[in-house]
Amino acid sequence: MPERSADSPVRALDAAYYTDPARFERERDRVFRRTWQYAGHVSQLEGAGDYFTFDVHGRSLFCVRRPDGAMAAFYNACAHRGHEVVSGSGNRRVLVCPYHSWTYELDGSLRAAPGADRVPGFDPSCISLTPVRIERVGGFMFVNLDPHAEPMESRYPGLGAALGEYLPDLDRLRPAFTRTVIERCNWKVSVENYNECYHCRVNHPTFASGVVDPDSYRIVARGRMLRHATSSATGEAMSYRIDAGAHPRALEYRSWFLWPAFSFQVYPGNVLNTYHWRAIDHRTTEVTRQWYSVGGECPGALRRLAEQDADTTLAEDIRLVESVQRGLESGGYRPAPLVIDPRGGLESEHSIAALYAWLHEAMEA
Ligand code: FES
Ligand SMILES: [Fe+2]
Repeated sequence: MPERSADSPVRALDAAYYTDPARFERERDRVFRRTWQYAGHVSQLEGAGDYFTFDVHGRSLFCVRRPDGAMAAFYNACAHRGHEVVSGSGNRRVLVCPYHSWTYELDGSLRAAPGADRVPGFDPSCISLTPVRIERVGGFMFVNLDPHAEPMESRYPGLGAALGEYLPDLDRLRPAFTRTVIERCNWKVSVENYNECYHCRVNHPTFASGVVDPDSYRIVARGRMLRHATSSATGEAMSYRIDAGAHPRALEYRSWFLWPAFSFQVYPGNVLNTYHWRAIDHRTTEVTRQWYSVGGECPGALRRLAEQDADTTLAEDIRLVESVQRGLESGGYRPAPLVIDPRGGLESEHSIAALYAWLHEAMEA
């Protein structure tokens, strides 16, 4: 991170931040394995014993619903000799490791190990799967591999309450439409692009005139969260129909970006959608866009909005971020100052400076 004095501008980061595989490996440890990562949605765990496996930066994990209804997350590693206990997704009354049939309860405790009763000193009550921290925001489950990590409410203060103000049915929302794309760029290129709207008017004509009002666009940092706020586009330019009387905040746009790799967005009309970034390697990022409705139905209007977004904003951003990556890899990139307006506003990149600070904080910790 470049040093700067109080009156010198913040410069963009050197290309190596985005092109160096060794730096990316350090980020996996210091950023992704110590922050809250999206695991999945509770609709994947409707009944006791439902489970699904997933991966957080090379760490094999699974989530399961316990008999008492609570969600649990574990490293997917048998305490015996390490075989993965479950694969894919499904439902289990107990968790039986396929290697030597050690059997665990849904709370991770060891229930039986064949032949272990003949082992002097073998105490099954001392053996269990290794739990992982898990928290929920509405139906969205997040895990953190750092047992000492601060809870989500202190990293992302007020998030649950704010979402509830826009989404009275938050707990009943289910995924209705999903689009996953691969971006050939470093994850920070994509996340930084998401978190400024300086490029919106030039590059996102549909979003900047048919979804939101760019003039009132504001981004504010709170905790390790960036809140984007503006109002909906107005009049003929609006690209989809909204029932303005359906909710007091129907004509607003909000987004809450959760450092480092997830975002809740509420489009005008109180339409929840999310971004989930998965950094695959130093120059490959998987981005999943998901749209939600009560019960998970996908009526035509929601499908049209999701497809419009995929065909415009998402596609336009892919072209931008992949071009940025090629520029960063050109060998001739010399970072210039960010455009930071002390008053904030659409054309200010203060949010990029916040992302740099959080990256620096994580890498120095
Ligand atoms: S590794 Fe799981 S039972 Fe042996
Ligand atoms: Fe964009």
